[in-house]
Order: sequence, then structure tokens, then C-alpha cells
Amino acid sequence: MNLKALQLINYRNFEDLELKFSEKINCFIGNNGVGKTNILDAIYNLSFTKSWLNPLDIQNIRYYQDFFLIKGKYRFEEDEIEISCGLKRGKKKSFKRNGKEYSKLADHIGLIPLVSISPYDSNLILGGSEDRRKFIDSVISQFDKEYLQALMKYNRVLTQRNQLLKQFAEQRNFDKDSLSVWDMQLIDLGNFIYDKRSKFLNELSPIFQKYYDFISEKKESVQLDYRSQLSSDYEELIEQNIDRDRMLQYTSVGIHKDDLIFKLKEHALKKNASQGQQKTYLIALKLAQFDYIKQISNIKPILLFDDIFDKLDRLRVEQIIKLVADKHFGQIFITDTNQERLDKILNKIEINYKLFKINDEITETEKQFDNIQ
Ligand SMILES: Nc1ncnc2c1ncn2[C@@H]1O[C@H](COP(=O)(O)OP(=O)(O)OP(=O)(O)O)[C@@H](O)[C@H]1O
Ligand SMILES: [Mg+2]
Repeated sequence: MNLKALQLINYRNFEDLELKFSEKINCFIGNNGVGKTNILDAIYNLSFTKSWLNPLDIQNIRYYQDFFLIKGKYRFEEDEIEISCGLKRGKKKSFKRNGKEYSKLADHIGLIPLVSISPYDSNLILGGSEDRRKFIDSVISQFDKEYLQALMKYNRVLTQRNQLLKQFAEQRNFDKDSLSVWDMQLIDLGNFIYDKRSKFLNELSPIFQKYYDFISEKKESVQLDYRSQLSSDYEELIEQNIDRDRMLQYTSVGIHKDDLIFKLKEHALKKNASQGQQKTYLIALKLAQFDYIKQISNIKPILLFDDIFDKLDRLRVEQIIKLVADKHFGQIFITDTNQERLDKILNKIEINYKLFKINDEITETEKQFDNIQ
């Protein structure tokens, strides 16, 4: 699967833009603020039905205009599929596949798998555990609706249980039976989610290791672990913590406390690793996500690399390009402000690419090698 062409009308800073892409590597080069990330954002939007830069759709309409339209033509083996996303001020967003409006946006998710890496992802390392749970959940739930439902139900039950704990404290009473109605559901759902997350991380972790080793040329060891209180018996934990929960007036054990532990040479990545090492970690993690999705969907996800090369040394950038040039990976979109750096690396490898230089005008350079997909 690949994106053959993209059209933007009044999307963020673009009035009318039409681009045709290479099946392999596409680079957007230009100064700060010319709209490189906006193009990636539009591609992201066609996969996830929402912008990654600004979830408020209306703010993605070009200033002083009253609608935007994003149109993408995708090739799926022999078929061509057109996806469009349009928004007019005061109207509902319209999301279409081959001209037919989706009744539910969620039905579209998963059709065009995509993995993005951007500077915003540093939250995964620097942010709280919630950011890391969101990462796990968003990857699993794209293809596992049962997981998504269990998660939503878990959160509802958790809210109810917390409300009851609060009510007990306010009314200075306690009724174990009414609490255990929620406990039973929480335990079932919690164990289900825990099993899925464990399985996901067991699959992800070795792939992540492999990618980290390749990019860093085995310069340093890294660890990625899933930490959950549910590695002990959840039912017992709930029972043991009832007094504590009553005091705190919320549920202190469960999968809502899960986290991922990122380490470099056995030390916490956040506090000990350099910026380049943290970036390498993130890229290896996202490439592992790529493999996971590829395996489930049987489609090579589109890769978006937004400004990922800053802070990485030349060797690591070369390793990354070498890696994704392989036919294991599919179509890739890269943004960079530094053309020289990209030119040097791309010219070293025999790989098909298109380079879009973005200024007031857009100029294209293309390189095609025979016999390369
Ligand atoms: N709704 C909008 N209408 C018009 N312009 C917009 C809108 N939203 C954002 N922009 C413009 O888009 C530009 C930012 O684009 P973008 O983030 O894609 O830049 P970039 O090329 O990725 O830059 P950098 O190299 O700094 O990452 C800004 O100049 C901003 O004013
Ligand atoms: Mg940018």
C-alpha cells in the first residue's frame, strides 16, 4: 500500500497543493515554518481521521477561509482507493472512502496503517506514565476492538468504584458488598487488559532491542520493561488494599497504574541518557511498533519521520536510512531543514526517492533506480 498523490486545499498554510509521491522515500526540505510538518499532518489525518498537530479540526482551516479539503489517492496492490477529509465552518466533518461517507469515523481506523515519529513523541520518555499507557493502548486498540471496549469499560467501572469510595468517606459508612460488585468487574477487565499488554510487550521488546542495536551499532545496552501491579494476583491486591483505598478515596491498584520502564545501561533513560540516545530509543520503539502493526495488518504501514535527525550523529542517521531503505519497510515521508545532510546519505544508498524543496514554490527532484521497489 502507498500514497500516490495528495491534494490539500486550505489546509493549514496551504492554499492549493498537489503532490505525487515516490513509493519509497519522500523528503520535504525547507526552512522553519514553510509547512513541512503540515504536509505530514495531512497524511496522518487521512489515516487517523484527525490531525496530530491540532485536534480542533476548525483550527486547521487556513486562516480567513471557510473550509479545508484533504484528498489522498492510495494504491492497494491492484486497487486504487481515494480517501478525503473535508470540513466546512459550521458543518460536520466529512470523511469519505471512494466518495462514500463513513457513518462512523472509527470504521476507517486501521485501513491505512501509519506510524509517525516526531519531536512531540519525546513525551513518551519525559512525560508521566499516562503518556506511555496511551502509547500502548493506541497501538493495540487500532486492531483489537475487544481491547478498546474492555479499556473503556474498565475506565467506567473505575470511575464508579472511586465515586463509591468517596461516597463512603463523605457519609462515614462502608458497605463491602456494594464495593465488591465493582471489584469483580474491575478484576475481570483488569486481568484481560494486563494479559493483552503483556503479550504486546513480549512481542515488542525483542524487536525494539534489535532496532536499537542496529541504529547504535551496538554501542550501548538498553532495556524496555512492562511494569504492572497485576504481575501479582489482582484479586488479592484489591482485597489487601481496601483500607488504603478507603483512606485515599480512590482505587490505588490496577492497570491504570501500569508503566513502561525505559533504561539505558541499567539506568533510567529520562535522567541518564543523552538527547541523541533518547531519540534513538524512541525511533527504535516506533520501528518496533511498525513491525507489530505490519504483522497484524499484513500491510507495511506508512512511516512519517518529522525532524527526527536533529541531535543524531551522522552514523546513526545513516543507519536509520539504511534500515528503512530495506524492502521490509514501505513508503516513508521525511522532513528536514538540512538538505546537505539528506543528500549525502541518500546518494550513498541506491534507493528511489523524491525530494520536495518547499519555498514559496515547490521544486521536485527524483531519483529512480531500476529493479528497486
Ligand atoms: N490554520 C492555519 N492557517 C494558515 N497557516 C497556518 C495554520 N496553521 C498553521 N499555519 C502556519 O503553518 C506554519 C507552520 O508549519 P509547519 O509546522 O508545517 O512548519 P515546518 O516547515 O514543519 O517548520 P519547522 O522546520 O520549524 O518544523 C506556520 O507558519 C503557521 O503560521
Ligand atoms: Mg516541522
